[in-house]
Formats: sequence, structure tokens, C-alpha cells
Amino acid sequence: MKVTFYGHASLGIEINGKHILVDPFISGNEKAASIDIDELRADYILVTHAHQDHILDVEAIAKRTGAVIVSNYEIVVHYQNLGLNGHPMNHGGSWQFDFGRVKYVNAIHTSSFPDGTYGGQPGGFVIEADKTIYIAGDTALTYDMKLIGKQFDLDLVILPIGDNFTMGVEDAIIASNYVKCDNVLGYHYDTFGYIEIDKPKAKAKFDSQLKSLKLLNIGESMMVK
Ligand code: NI
Ligand code: MN
Repeated sequence: MKVTFYGHASLGIEINGKHILVDPFISGNEKAASIDIDELRADYILVTHAHQDHILDVEAIAKRTGAVIVSNYEIVVHYQNLGLNGHPMNHGGSWQFDFGRVKYVNAIHTSSFPDGTYGGQPGGFVIEADKTIYIAGDTALTYDMKLIGKQFDLDLVILPIGDNFTMGVEDAIIASNYVKCDNVLGYHYDTFGYIEIDKPKAKAKFDSQLKSLKLLNIGESMMVK
């Protein structure tokens, strides 16, 4: 399993030749100007919630690639009404896709579309394939994360660390304890003023708890071990 960071909360995940995009917000992120959305491959697009900074490029990429949009019921119906492919889920449910098993899990956040219409409830994803990863989405620290630690043996957890709209670094350290995974990829930071962080300080805080905080450059990939 290979994970590529496309800036903000946008990820590319490659599993056995299948390409999964998560929360594509690239054309609106000036820090991700090096990424051309017309070049991105997608068999699936996983969407955690309906906020602009998670869905901006979903429609264009799904239209071009025919990718299946996987999200909560309300978000998927929104895209199906635009003629796009979708697979609706809701919290606590799992589905076996051709690349692996996906569970849509709880997040504490909000989820309106940019025009204010209802975007269902926000979530995160656990993906079980050759490796098992948890993508938290935009969320506060929540005790529900302990369930993920009980039910899954995670190889990587992807957590928001930018604070203000989501948990910050201190809570992300607690979240990594709850999900029982010390291998953390941070995201949802530095894109705009409210979520700028001191990266060396954040890494040092994780180091002091004998955990590893990985921060990828935009366009950089890592193999999940
Ligand atoms: Ni959000
Ligand atoms: Mn967000």
C-alpha cells in the first residue's frame, strides 16, 4: 500500500494497482499548484464529509475518470444526482470493495455542502487491505477511537493536526494511543492561517512520547509498512 499526500487532507492510496483518492481539494490549494488534477488516477474517491476543503475536485475528477464516490448516503446521493457513480455508506457499516474492506467510522465535526445544504454526518475510513489504515477525516479527539483500537490492528493512522477546526497535536497524540498505533501521518495543517503549525515542535512532541509523526511534502509518497 502506497500513500501519497496531495496537500491539506487530500490523499492518493494505491492498493494492488487500484487508485483511491481521498478528499480531493487540490485546484483550490495554492500550495498544491504542482499537482495537476487532470493527471490523477482514480478508481474510487473516498469523501469524509461535504466541506469545500474536502470535495472541491470530486466532481471534475469523477466525471473524467468514472470513479466510484464512496461516502455517507447524503453526499453520494448528491453526486449520483449529477450523474456520477457512487457507493453510499453510513456510520458503522463496512463493505468489501475490490481493493479491500472499508468501514465508515465516526468523526466529531460538521458536514454541510458549500451552499449550506445538508451533507450528512462527517466520518472517517478504516481501510483493510494488504495493510490496515485509519483515515480520521476532520474530527475532534473522541472516545470512539478506542473502538478502532480494539477492532483493528492498524499499520498507519492518518490524523488531522492543524487544530482550530479539528484536533491539534496534543489530542492527536492521545488519539494515537486510543487507536493503538504509534505510526502517524499528519494532515489538515498549514493550508490556511487558522491551521498553521510549528512542524519541528509537533514532531518533537510525538518523539517525546516514542511515537513517529510523519509529514509528507505535497506530492510525496510513502509505503505503509
Ligand atoms: Ni471540515
Ligand atoms: Mn477540513
